[in-house]
Amino acid sequence: MAVLTEDMIAAIKDYFPRYPTRQAVTLPALHIVNERLRYVPLEAVVEIAQLLELAPAQVQDTLSFYGYFKQDKPHGETRAWVCRSIACALRDGEQVLEHMCHAAGIHPGETTRDNKLTIEFAECLGACEYAPCMLAGDVLHKNLTNESAEAFVKQTCSGHGGNGQAGSTH
Ligand code: FES
Repeated sequence: MAVLTEDMIAAIKDYFPRYPTRQAVTLPALHIVNERLRYVPLEAVVEIAQLLELAPAQVQDTLSFYGYFKQDKPHGETRAWVCRSIACALRDGEQVLEHMCHAAGIHPGETTRDNKLTIEFAECLGACEYAPCMLAGDVLHKNLTNESAEAFVKQTCSGHGGNGQAGSTH
């Protein structure tokens, strides 16, 4: 069964006139699928390749290069990127990350079992003056503390705070 819906195919085709080659549409196409499915399964890679008249390996190479797209399972409804670069690290970012993961019952890169939250490492988010910080969906969380990070986890996950509810997306 096809993974790409009519809607995804139409959205990808919309990019064709805007780019010089179909190959250049690879990254936008991956984002279109990822936005809708929260991952890009191998079947979708093959279908994108057909649409762009490329070899599946070419699309897969782009996907792997960015390390952004999950391929085995969807990421959580909210994907939180916690900065681990220097300004945030100097202001206890790593400790906040650890506390947050503990509250969620997962390790960085994993998703809570209720699929509500995925916690990831990020490099500098460009908001060093608010260190330590994280980007969750489109929202920048500034000046994180253990308390605010834990409150975020509780708010995002359904009811239980997530402890011990780990389910890896890898
Ligand atoms: S170092 Fe964390 S936002 Fe820049």
